[in-house]
Amino acid sequence: MFGVEHPIIQGGMQWVGRAELVSAVANAGALGCLTALTQPTPEDLAKEIDRTREMTDKPFAVNFTILPTLKPVPYAEYMDAIIESGVKIVETAGNNPKEHMPKLKAAGVKVIHKCTSVRHAISAQKNGVDCVSIDGFECAGHPGEDDTPGLILIPRAADQLDIPIVASGGFADGRGLAAALALGAEGINMGTRFMATKEAPVHDKIKQRIVEASELDTTLIFRTLRNTSRMFNNAVSRKVVEMEAEGKSIQEIGPIASGQKGRLVYEQGDEDAGVWSAGMCIGLIHDVPTVAELVSRIVAEADGIIEERLKRFAS
Ligand SMILES: Cc1cc2nc3c(=O)[nH]c(=O)nc-3n(C[C@H](O)[C@H](O)[C@H](O)COP(=O)(O)O)c2cc1C
Repeated sequence: MFGVEHPIIQGGMQWVGRAELVSAVANAGALGCLTALTQPTPEDLAKEIDRTREMTDKPFAVNFTILPTLKPVPYAEYMDAIIESGVKIVETAGNNPKEHMPKLKAAGVKVIHKCTSVRHAISAQKNGVDCVSIDGFECAGHPGEDDTPGLILIPRAADQLDIPIVASGGFADGRGLAAALALGAEGINMGTRFMATKEAPVHDKIKQRIVEASELDTTLIFRTLRNTSRMFNNAVSRKVVEMEAEGKSIQEIGPIASGQKGRLVYEQGDEDAGVWSAGMCIGLIHDVPTVAELVSRIVAEADGIIEERLKRFAS
């Protein structure tokens, strides 16, 4: 469907989904995703798409995240920039993509909708998306409010949908890829694992912190606002949870948890500069390979599991 060699997607990542990472993923034969809202304006997004094209001639996608924000976002202009640039794959997330579907379809764009529940996946299918990426409770970023882990969510989605599904949340190695295929997905989507690669535009200290961390090092913020986010467990995310328990308002909490502060984490390498997304698979990450090494390792490991370990169970 996307013209890529391997069944692996690098999901949209605020501040991280830039040309360096996306082109490396594309060149490794997987599907990389630029993150539209990482660029300050739609014009900057068009330039970032051009920059990515200078680094790869392979297909790549753009992530279009529609979430509640304190500052209004010119979504329609960002969407126009994507379509006018000629990108043919878009990952939508955060909200129902219905209002953008006619434009995307008219431009011949394939749409992957990322969501966290079977009911939202069914609704996206009705709205004409080509594929659904289903994010389990383990995932970095927004796991939704149902708390259903991938082991249940992926086969439930596979049972209910006619379009292909991609398993997301908690995947970091070939064991995960083989498991996702067994559960009925056509491939995997990864965020956290791609942060700890040589090409990711993330400070080396943060990559090292990811390598050191365990699966217990994430925390859920904004539960009380029904806008849950899985973040690295640091001084700031703990403070946010504390303020929520005290009943503080979003106006009071917002400045502490702002995305701009999160950006400083990746740029300056101070893990306590703000909140930053991380999934539970952080406990499965033990090194900082190149993207090409990571993708080929995952594919080879999954191949080995399917050909050797799983075949032993077949009669
Ligand atoms: C640093 C970071 C930033 C993210 N930002 C976004 C985003 O802006 N939009 C989005 O749809 N998903 C975002 N995600 C979620 C990923 O695209 C992906 O769905 C998720 O990371 C999968 O879970 P995993 O981290 O266990 O692989 C982000 C994830 C990370 C790690």
